[in-house]
Order: sequence, then structure tokens, then C-alpha cells
Amino acid sequence: MTQTIAYISRDTDGLHWKKVLEAALGPIDFRTLETLGNVDAIEIALAWKPPRGLLASFRNLKLIVSLGMGVDHLLADDALPAGVPIVRIMDDGLIGQMSEYAIYWALRHHRDIDKYAELQRARQWRPLDFVDTLHRRVGVMGLGSIGQDTARKFAMLGFPTAGWSRTKKDLPGIETFHGRDGLAKFLARSDILVDVLPLTRDTQGLLDADAFAQLPKGAYFINMARGGHVVDEALLAALDSGHLAGAALDVFNQEPLPADHPYWTHPKVHVTPHIAGATNPRTASPGIIENIRRLRAGQPLINTVDPKTGY
Ligand code: GLV
Repeated sequence: MTQTIAYISRDTDGLHWKKVLEAALGPIDFRTLETLGNVDAIEIALAWKPPRGLLASFRNLKLIVSLGMGVDHLLADDALPAGVPIVRIMDDGLIGQMSEYAIYWALRHHRDIDKYAELQRARQWRPLDFVDTLHRRVGVMGLGSIGQDTARKFAMLGFPTAGWSRTKKDLPGIETFHGRDGLAKFLARSDILVDVLPLTRDTQGLLDADAFAQLPKGAYFINMARGGHVVDEALLAALDSGHLAGAALDVFNQEPLPADHPYWTHPKVHVTPHIAGATNPRTASPGIIENIRRLRAGQPLINTVDPKTGY
């Protein structure tokens, strides 16, 4: 039986997805936002930032697949069809890109690369004091699959690494903290703070003036999770007062980042356009294919999302 799958995204890789899924599953009646046709036929939606209310109009929808590892873009839709299971991608390619992103900015800060670039422009040969890797403590907020991979790689590089999560986790070689009670202690020992938390009711605005004040002086902040975690005025104030040494930001409260936003020109901020981890059909599709097979066979799904926790 031909399955009807709708690709609900403004990204342009719909055809790529169609090819990858058909290679494994056979012919698919593959629709895009421009070719939705009679929506009663749609059984599966592959979605990234769907227009609000659209999924609820698919009356025979059986499965919603988040094309991002984060699902806040789906749960923000208060008209999401009740009872339709949501699964998310589990993409090893994306996970690897995310840890690369964090390690890149952390090393650039740790090894004073921006300062040496300035010295080069001034034709100055001037070795700076270095910080022993053993004294540069990395803290990873969020210990799902991305956070665990990132923390493990930092630990392998020799950085004393800790992780913070909502509920208690034990990870070999990583010091772990959890819950609101563990947050202040975690922040106070994080010279480089890496954010990979999901955006939920609990994490919205978590990084406020108090949180930044709890970081050690000279800390560096890398946000590759969601801009909604950050109170922007608090981050800017912490950078301007000299409490924070700098920040690498991939995600923002408003995306695209408005042209007049102070982050664009701030001397201590690096801005990238939400590219830390791009969904890659090659590495994301096996889990989706597995879930479509399970749906057909009436078996339990994998990588399911709990709308209550928000991930
Ligand atoms: C990207 O932001 C994702 O959620 O995968």
C-alpha cells in the first residue's frame, strides 16, 4: 500500500527525503507544503516549524516526526492533534556536528586564537600566558544524546567536564549535577558553559542575570540549544561588565536575528545562523524508517516525545 507522507518544512530538501525514504520503503505519495492536495490522505507528517494548526487539519494523521532533535517548534502549536504520537529524529550526524561546534569555540577561546589574530594584525610576536587544560572547567547543560556526546569529547580532550540535567544522571568521567538545587554549584565551576538543553517551560529564561553572575569571572558561553533560554539583556550586561569573556551564539530569541540586534556587532560575541547541527537525511533517516516500519506493523515506536516533559 502506498503511504502518504507530507513534508512540512520551508527547508528545500523535500526531494532528498523522498528519495531516501522510498529507497527503503518503496513508492510513497510524497507531498510538500506546495502540493498538500487532499489532506485526509496524509498519514505521516515530517515536520520542522509547521504553521500553527496545520497538523490538526490532517484528520487521518497517525504519526508526527520532528525533523529536528528539538521539538519545541511542534509543542508550541496549541492545536496539535491530541493522541497522535510524536517522534523525533535521533541523528548521529547532527550530534557530531553539535559537539564539533562546541569544541571549536571552546578551543578558540581556550587557546586565545582571537587575541593572537589581533596581535598578528599588529605584527606583534607576543606569547600570552596560557591556562592549563586541567584548570579550564567545561560545563555542559543538558545531558541528552547531544550533551553526552559533547561532554564525553571534552573529557577526552582533558578538560575537567561536568554536566547538568533536570533529573539525576551518572556518566563515566563526567561530574554530574541536577535540578535547580544543583544549578548554582554547576555554574560556579564552569569556565566554559555549553548550552544544549531543550526549550521547555522549565528552561525558558533559565540563563538570567543571576545565572550569569554565578559563572566564574572570565567564563565563556556557547549557546547551541535555543535562544529562549537566555535573557539577552542579562547576557549583554555580563559581557559588558567584563564578567564574561565572550560568547558564541548559534540560536536566538528571534530568528533570523534582527538586523539591529546588538549581538551582530558586539566585540565579544560570535554569531552563527542556527547551523551548529543541521539535520542530515543520510544519518537521520534510519530512525524514521524504523518508526514507519513499526507504525505499519503496530509495534512500539522509538525516539518518542513526551509532550509533558517537552523532549
Ligand atoms: C535544531 O535546532 C534541532 O532541533 O535539531
